[in-house]
Amino acid sequence: MKIALGSDHGGFLLKKEVARHLMVKGIEFTDFGTFDGEQSVDYTDYVWPVAFGVSKGDFDLGILVCGTGIGVAIAANKVKGIRAAICTNGYMARMCREHNDANILTLGGRVLGNGLALEIVDIFLSTSFLGGRHAARLEKIRWMELHGPDATVTNGCAADSSNAPEACARDIKAAGEATGEAVGKSAAADAGANKSK
Ligand code: RB5
Repeated sequence: MKIALGSDHGGFLLKKEVARHLMVKGIEFTDFGTFDGEQSVDYTDYVWPVAFGVSKGDFDLGILVCGTGIGVAIAANKVKGIRAAICTNGYMARMCREHNDANILTLGGRVLGNGLALEIVDIFLSTSFLGGRHAARLEKIRWMELHGPDATVTNGCAADSSNAPEACARDIKAAGEATGEAVGKSAAADAGANKSK
């Protein structure tokens, strides 16, 4: 497994801990900086090599750290194919892999203690994507990425389903077959029981 690592000054100290942790565990990684916790830098400059490295397939996963984990998550998620998840506990770390197939973990160096942060890292790196219904949702995200604001969407899918991904085509077909009442009922049922879906 190859990991891409990066931070700004706000995440520098925690990134150092993460790098040490990966080294002890024998996990291969590249640290793209910053290498100075004193100098104020723009987090975007460190997100860039990590996010594009992961999206190109040069790395399996990425870990980005800034003061809060927010700026690096926003920036990384602008890159096609990136699903960056900010995590503040182990449950989020597990779910972002199992349900969202997150490929970049973002952490807040000014928010998390080292012990918790490293536990989050361990869970993130050792948990696999569950696929199934979650894969269909990721397919819809890819569809949105591909078509941007030009995609007219209904139920998360392009109205023109001629070359829609399988999940969209299936939903469009199901919506066409269902009566308005049935669609309303299933939406209400979903809203009431969506905790484990
Ligand atoms: C830097 O002061 C801080 O804004 C940055 O590390 C990060 O928290 C932004 O989201």
